[in-house]
Amino acid sequence: MTERLELRHFEPTDLDALAGVFAKYEVWKFPYNRPWRRDETATFIANQRSHWETCEFGLWLAILQSTGGVIGYVGLSVPMFLPEILPAVEVGWRFDPDAWGRGYATEAARAALAEGFTTLGFDEICSLPQVENVASVRVAERLGMRNEGIATIAANERFGEKNAVLFWMTADEWRAS
Ligand SMILES: CC(C)(COP(=O)(O)OP(=O)(O)OC[C@H]1O[C@@H](n2cnc3c(N)ncnc32)[C@H](O)[C@@H]1OP(=O)(O)O)[C@@H](O)C(=O)NCCC(=O)NCCS
Repeated sequence: MTERLELRHFEPTDLDALAGVFAKYEVWKFPYNRPWRRDETATFIANQRSHWETCEFGLWLAILQSTGGVIGYVGLSVPMFLPEILPAVEVGWRFDPDAWGRGYATEAARAALAEGFTTLGFDEICSLPQVENVASVRVAERLGMRNEGIATIAANERFGEKNAVLFWMTADEWRAS
């Protein structure tokens, strides 16, 4: 729980709500430049559920307490798409455009950083918003993460080469923030 959000693991019954969010173009514009189909969202939920069974961290579904509505996700993951910085843990976020601009991403990401630096004891957490993703870059800045320059993410079978801003935060920096 945060002040305004419930953050919890994914359930198969979340499919309708999450598929509705992921079907909006803006939600997956970075990096896919297209919305997600329902079957892709179903696979995403299944993957998150099996990830949580084998790993002590992952992404959480974000629900607005005031309405009970699903607005997106936030959490920690391993940035496999950037092998040169591994081993590493990334904090990430993705929300319904109807919920943007109210500080939810920052609020939710603070909870993810707290989990990473306290319960999980990580020394460092990164974030990798795409260079063009101004709102996401702002979230990393608002969190007090350190801009370490541009990282190039190689093309894969799903999308072409991307440039991301590599942000880092250490546990000490988090405690001081
Ligand atoms: C990135 C995202 C999570 C931000 O969510 P949010 O709840 O609006 O974020 P916050 O309100 O906590 O802060 C957003 C900051 O970005 C700014 N912002 C929001 N939308 C913006 C836009 N379209 N263009 C430029 N800046 C924007 C806000 O003004 C705020 O900055 P400020 O402190 O200078 O006012 C949301 O835009 C999103 O889900 N985008 C699509 C998914 C995505 O790209 N995820 C990131 C993948 S790396």
